[in-house]
Amino acid sequence: MTDLITVQDRPEGVRVVGFNRPDKKNALTGAMYDAMRVALEEADASDAVGAVVFAGAPGVFCAGNDLSDFLASARGKPFTEAPALHFIRQLARTQTPMVAAVDGIAVGIGTTLTLHCDLVYVGPSARFRLPFVELGLVPEAASSYLLPRRVGLAKASEMLLLSEAFDADTAVSLGLANAVMPSDLLVEHALAQAARLAALPRGAVAASRRLIRGDSEAVEAALEAEAEAFEARLQSPEAQDSFRRFLERPRSAS
Ligand code: COA
Repeated sequence: MTDLITVQDRPEGVRVVGFNRPDKKNALTGAMYDAMRVALEEADASDAVGAVVFAGAPGVFCAGNDLSDFLASARGKPFTEAPALHFIRQLARTQTPMVAAVDGIAVGIGTTLTLHCDLVYVGPSARFRLPFVELGLVPEAASSYLLPRRVGLAKASEMLLLSEAFDADTAVSLGLANAVMPSDLLVEHALAQAARLAALPRGAVAASRRLIRGDSEAVEAALEAEAEAFEARLQSPEAQDSFRRFLERPRSAS
């Protein structure tokens, strides 16, 4: 396992899954995806866990998939067998309610995982971006299905095709987040809301989530279709060149 994902169970029935790779802006490796998948599987299997909170650090939620892993993936396991996809499948089928506390950077899966959360609270510095196409890739985590349904086709196209970033206020106004909270109160608020969810009758919460979230088969079909396209794109020179450009970019001396 890895200490780059922290898992903490609180007495009020809330499991906190924390991104803990600050030097790489919480970019996710295979081991981190595996740890997150297991944390969600266990949450569903445990009577002691009634809600999950995803949290980063002040100013950094998650910079998305580790781009060196994407570069290496052309020579490794296909994406359809990668820890990232196993995590995404689990994320979509998780029955335990999920809450995200997003401050600062939320790129790629850092944004798309919030589409699977029931409640999303954001700090004033939250900045979401979905640079899949810019990187030579296609959307993942069923975002090509979920985002147009949440924000409309026009807005989703700006986000998914043009990789247009959006801030905390925009996330709230588009219905992608519940509220902007001061940075120092963000996690506390997410935990309090998660504790409220955990205190509710579990069966009623699970049944209501299924009704609210709608067609799970369509979501699963979307993420599988995306995964096939993603795998083809990962191998493409467009994508491989873009990963190299990022990893070999000049760094400032400071
Ligand atoms: N994969 C691998 N390493 C990453 C990373 C990623 N997704 N995101 C950040 N890092 C690393 C940087 O390479 C850098 O490492 P170094 O110190 O060894 O050079 C470190 O994290 C800090 O990142 P840096 O770019 O210096 O921070 P920043 O505040 O200037 O910018 C981001 C932050 C997130 C805007 C920028 O790092 C970025 O664009 N990352 C890539 C995001 C991405 O495309 N994710 C994939 C989506 S599918």
